[in-house]
Amino acid sequence: MKKTRAVITGVHGWVPEYVLTNRELETMVDTNDEWIVTRTGIKERRILKGENQGTSVIGINAIKGLLKKTNTDPEDIDLIICATVTPDMPFPATANIIADGVGAKNSFSFDISAACSGFLYALTMGSQFIETGMHKKVIVVGADKMSSIIDYQDRATCIIFGDGGGAVLLEPTEEEVGVMDSMLKSDGSGAPYLHMKAGGSRRPATIESVNAREHFAFQEGSTVFKFAVTNMADVSAKIMEKNNLKSEDIAWLVPHQANKRIIDATANRMGVGPDKVMLNIERYGNTTAGTLPLCLWDYEPQLKKGDNIILAAFGGGFTWGSIYLKWGYDGAK
Ligand SMILES: CC(C)(COP(=O)(O)OP(=O)(O)OC[C@H]1O[C@@H](n2cnc3c(N)ncnc32)[C@H](O)[C@@H]1OP(=O)(O)O)[C@@H](O)C(=O)NCCC(=O)NCCS
Repeated sequence: MKKTRAVITGVHGWVPEYVLTNRELETMVDTNDEWIVTRTGIKERRILKGENQGTSVIGINAIKGLLKKTNTDPEDIDLIICATVTPDMPFPATANIIADGVGAKNSFSFDISAACSGFLYALTMGSQFIETGMHKKVIVVGADKMSSIIDYQDRATCIIFGDGGGAVLLEPTEEEVGVMDSMLKSDGSGAPYLHMKAGGSRRPATIESVNAREHFAFQEGSTVFKFAVTNMADVSAKIMEKNNLKSEDIAWLVPHQANKRIIDATANRMGVGPDKVMLNIERYGNTTAGTLPLCLWDYEPQLKKGDNIILAAFGGGFTWGSIYLKWGYDGAK
């Protein structure tokens, strides 16, 4: 009997309209365009403005576009998994709000918290729901409104992040395409270097915690950078080795868009040239769980059925990992 795999049958992204440029950041913190571009590769990022606009807005818009382009009835969706670290609220899950917003009345839905690796975790899990044969249409959405947890007085962190996300539709196939392999890792001892100090059950919000600016993402950038470079490159090289893939077999590397220097190091380690690396960090910055589906959406017109694609990410937790997939269709839908 042939193995049932999960294949991506459509991808769609969404970013808010407001563009926060490096020039505007220069008016907010002591920084400059040249420093930001040289150290990170980022020129601008999108910000979701307005009252009551949470991460669900990003997810709903991405999924509405996905349903339209794949001609899918929302009532046929079995499951929606949302990867995010900026949920609309601690509970209910943002995925529930998204499912309601897109009319996915027959689906169940839940969130995954794995920071910048969230989309990899969610894609792995979504694929397994398909592989069991129990579900036919699963949507995996990675979305973050990072501006809601960024301290725009912290110049080392605020320059990196932006808002946005994207979604993919997974369906079963017996062809030799789809999600082929996945390697996921986590190490909780990395928490001190990238976390939010207050607002959880350990230290609920108080006037003091708000005044001390503890409800923002805290990052020890240079430590995170070192771990990210090593682990993202290692896991990408390992998944290639495990699947007998040489660099010339790889059509695309889809790296988490955190820092252009981390992306370059991963591509070098894999022996993959810059023409095969998906890159949109200069326009969107780091959208956390949103970066990988946003890349797939941007590059969809160039993808071909059977392309070998390696997705790789590193983020808070620490979490990191890699997915090997074979693309399922030619060009944009
Ligand atoms: C945040 C990051 C861009 C900072 O770059 P860096 O080269 O490590 O810079 P450092 O933090 O060592 O700081 C170097 C200097 O630049 C300064 N600096 C920091 N931010 C600055 C800014 N926005 N503008 C100008 N100078 C800045 C620092 O104060 C420091 O000055 P000093 O040498 O006088 O003390 C980089 O560490 C990084 O990308 N880290 C990983 C981010 C990441 O991948 N996060 C994962 C989340 S998924």
